[in-house]
Amino acid sequence: MTAPVDPVRLLPGRGVEILDQTLLPLVERRVLLSGIDSVCEAIRELRVRGAPLLGLVGAAGMAIAADTTTANDADLAHAARLLDATRPTATDLGRAVRDALAQALSAGPSALLRREVLWRNAERLLALRRAEDEAIGQFGAELLPRGASVLTHCNTGALATAGIGTALGVVSIAHRQGRIERCYATETRPLLQGARLTTWELTRLGIPATLLPDTAAAALIASGLVDAVITGADRIAANGDTANKVGTYGLAAVAARHAVPFYIAAPTSTFDPGCPSGAEIPIEFRSPAEVGGFAGTRWSPDGIEAYNPAFDVTPASCITAIVTEHGVLRPPFAPAIAGLPALR
Ligand code: MRU
Repeated sequence: MTAPVDPVRLLPGRGVEILDQTLLPLVERRVLLSGIDSVCEAIRELRVRGAPLLGLVGAAGMAIAADTTTANDADLAHAARLLDATRPTATDLGRAVRDALAQALSAGPSALLRREVLWRNAERLLALRRAEDEAIGQFGAELLPRGASVLTHCNTGALATAGIGTALGVVSIAHRQGRIERCYATETRPLLQGARLTTWELTRLGIPATLLPDTAAAALIASGLVDAVITGADRIAANGDTANKVGTYGLAAVAARHAVPFYIAAPTSTFDPGCPSGAEIPIEFRSPAEVGGFAGTRWSPDGIEAYNPAFDVTPASCITAIVTEHGVLRPPFAPAIAGLPALR
């Protein structure tokens, strides 16, 4: 039997061991991150990625910062700033780092106690992630008809959360219940999270999978072969506008055009009630080099400019429902989101 995917291992006092996602699926290499700089580098380079996992690694990063400094207020505030500045779009990261900092500061001045509190917090978050994913998976699976084929984008599986995943967790539970016949996965240019990571996870789970170029997604939806589109989220504004991997908006718009349901699956930690709409969501722009080549191979002329946003915003009006660990939210989203239980 295939071992479950384990993207991070928390090793209190030593650091966090990650599965380097930039090398998958060709190489499965685990790397120990034992300093704040290596944690920040791993986040920036997408060795670890996916909104919920970024929150967990951010929390672990704060514990590592406490282990490797005097853990005074200034040390911890500095580490929080460094972690928060790595990737701007996923709410989970900033929230988890700020929350960890607040917990450490309120534990009093003892460095020993602060370290203990921060590692316990990271372990709590890991357990919470796993429980949330299971609940999202159960609620989401009920939305799918028996024999469904679904389309997903980017990677939202175990690699992105450390649980069973959000959108991919729904696919996984629906498959176990006999509801899913096939999962279509976009390749997700430019960093190929779909082609490299989602297909790898689907294969390990034994779920029939079909990979498609991003450019074929509109034709696939128009063909009637998919019963639903389901993706994750990086930040959900108070009105339901949702930032997710670039290309999500296109899928949602085409799904709406063809009356195919478009679902978002995300834990409450991905909602940002302080962000009124998608217009206020900070979007990360990445290097042109990612578009002009991959893994050391270049196919575009040196110096070519590239438009390379990592995320786009899907307007709430294109979203059929948002699946959370507390249940399924339907439009109008603003009151449904305002009614969510307070974040833990
Ligand atoms: O740039 P990435 O790979 O971190 O982007 C990930 C996504 O967009 C995911 O869909 C999102 O974080 C949800 S993961 C459960």
